[in-house]
Amino acid sequence: KKRIILDVDTGIDDALAIGYAVHSPELELLGLTTTFGNISLPEATRNSLVLLEKLNKEIPVYEGADKPYARELFKPYVRHIHGEDGIGNCFSSHPLRSAAAEHAADFIIQQARKYPRELTVIAVGPLTNMALALDRCPELPELLDRLIIMGGAVTVPGNVKPTAEANIYADPEAAEYVLTAGFKLTLVGLDVTMQTLLPQSAVDAWRDQGSELAEFMADMTDFYMQAYQDFKPGIAGCALHDPLAVGVAIAPDFVTTQPMYVAVDTGDSPTVGRTYEISADEASTGAGKTIDVCVEVDAERFLQHFLGRIL
Ligand code: BDR
Ligand code: CA
Repeated sequence: KKRIILDVDTGIDDALAIGYAVHSPELELLGLTTTFGNISLPEATRNSLVLLEKLNKEIPVYEGADKPYARELFKPYVRHIHGEDGIGNCFSSHPLRSAAAEHAADFIIQQARKYPRELTVIAVGPLTNMALALDRCPELPELLDRLIIMGGAVTVPGNVKPTAEANIYADPEAAEYVLTAGFKLTLVGLDVTMQTLLPQSAVDAWRDQGSELAEFMADMTDFYMQAYQDFKPGIAGCALHDPLAVGVAIAPDFVTTQPMYVAVDTGDSPTVGRTYEISADEASTGAGKTIDVCVEVDAERFLQHFLGRIL
């Protein structure tokens, strides 16, 4: 089994990623770590706990960053995409459990030391918790087996801005720090996640199944589906961004990757949050320290795999 930590800003596609991960026998989910992003930190933590309760899993949740690494909150929350509550307005009652006392960054470090070169972190929100973990443990890149990030748009336009993807845009300084820190890193960006669309027919089939979990997933996802229709009228579904990052942990051959040096625009750059390929000479990481950028995806095979496990 592959030991993983999932770093989330739960969020509807984060919730789908959590469901997919806990139902995947190849993965051992050691814990969820939470960050601000789609919604506020306390809401992300609460939603993660709600999800685990629905999924009947006692996996611990560690709360992390409530704002970006080196600036004040910058990107507005995206309640028009994920709902007022972050889970498609499906929140009904408070979870019975609460988050663990330890900070998310410390939990990541502790597990990385406990399982050297065995742990995969899948980060599907802003990269703040990973940046804080790097500050506290500079040898983290050597300790992890791999870091899989849902974020960026290297070869395609952005979503939250014409040039920026939401997770990177929410904390560009953290993103630059983490992307150039020397991790063995797979970047699952909009380059591939805008191709993995969940069709409405699949969500309707969940509802027909009738279980409480299926109904919750369907109600929540319907909200996200509508948001995608508003965002891109006529689009064939809603994007499975965060689930694809989990899919890549299970089966790396869902995607084709290319080694690249990637830079992030930071500070007050007009294209802040942009992720783009640079030459080895321009890279601050030193020669050889490329990251693996996903450039192609077998969308149909991934979708069938995801659908076979989500409920
Ligand atoms: C990413 O941004 C968030 O809104 C989603 O949960 C996903 O992680 C897509 O750009
Ligand atoms: Ca997310």
